[in-house]
Amino acid sequence: MKKVIFDTDPGIDDTMAMLLAHASDKIDLIGITTIFGNATIENATRNALYVKKKFGLTAAVSMGTDTPLVREAGEPTTFVHGDNGIGNVQIPEGDLGEKDNRAAHDFIIDQLKAYPNEITLIGVGRLTNLALALQKEPSIAKFAKEVIVMGGAFGYNGHSGNVTPFAEANVLGDPHAADIVFTADWPVTVVGLDVTHQVKMDQAYMEKLRNSSKKYGQFIYDITRFYVDFHKNECQLDYFPVHDSSAITYAIAPELFKVKKGPLRVVTEGVAIGHTMLKTSGSAFPIDNWSDKPVQTVCVDVDADKFLELYMDTMSA
Ligand code: BDR
Ligand code: CA
Repeated sequence: MKKVIFDTDPGIDDTMAMLLAHASDKIDLIGITTIFGNATIENATRNALYVKKKFGLTAAVSMGTDTPLVREAGEPTTFVHGDNGIGNVQIPEGDLGEKDNRAAHDFIIDQLKAYPNEITLIGVGRLTNLALALQKEPSIAKFAKEVIVMGGAFGYNGHSGNVTPFAEANVLGDPHAADIVFTADWPVTVVGLDVTHQVKMDQAYMEKLRNSSKKYGQFIYDITRFYVDFHKNECQLDYFPVHDSSAITYAIAPELFKVKKGPLRVVTEGVAIGHTMLKTSGSAFPIDNWSDKPVQTVCVDVDADKFLELYMDTMSA
């Protein structure tokens, strides 16, 4: 079992991914750290606690930051995830349980040190908490087993951005943090729009999931209604692409993904801000801001049918 800390901004697809991690017998979810993005930091943390209580997760929930390293935070993307960040499903009043008393980046530092080379960090929101952890304690890079990120877009399969033509939401939300995380000396795998847009959940799939997953099906169906409407009305899609669960699926079954390797950088200013760029060639250049950075892994294709089967089977077991 992989020990996982899940850094997330729940978030409808974040919640689907969190439940996949919880349901999988390949993952031991030891921590959930929250980040501003799809919801305010208060709502993202409340949603994580709610899901933890409702489904009996044992992971600690630690609240992260609402402030990107350099950029303005902007508003939460409630037009995609609903005002409460979780599709506007009713969240019961009352005690949802205590969060961990450490800030998310301190929780990450402590856990990486407590379990050297055992923890997989999975980030599916802005990467600010991970960058803060690296800035405060650079030595943690050598303690992480693996870092998996849902974010970015490299132009494979025709996908290069979802907020601008060349930037994906999580990376654009804090491009400086993403560049720090991608260039740190730990093994990073990025699962970007190049593959998340290849995996599509449509109405027939969601109905089948609702019926076959006795434990999670109805809840996932309910929280995704808002998300389905957004994709139908604003993007003219009769399905939604599967973003955050792609990072969890990579942790469970990396063999479903095709990858390319090379150093990778993020554009942190100007018209292409948030653009992620992978250098795959070994060529030498007179000026090269990639060549002294570590080689990382980028997913460029996925077996979508097997992925969808894995999600259905894991949630229905
Ligand atoms: C990413 O942005 C967020 O809205 C989703 O939760 C996902 O992490 C997709 O660009
Ligand atoms: Ca997310």
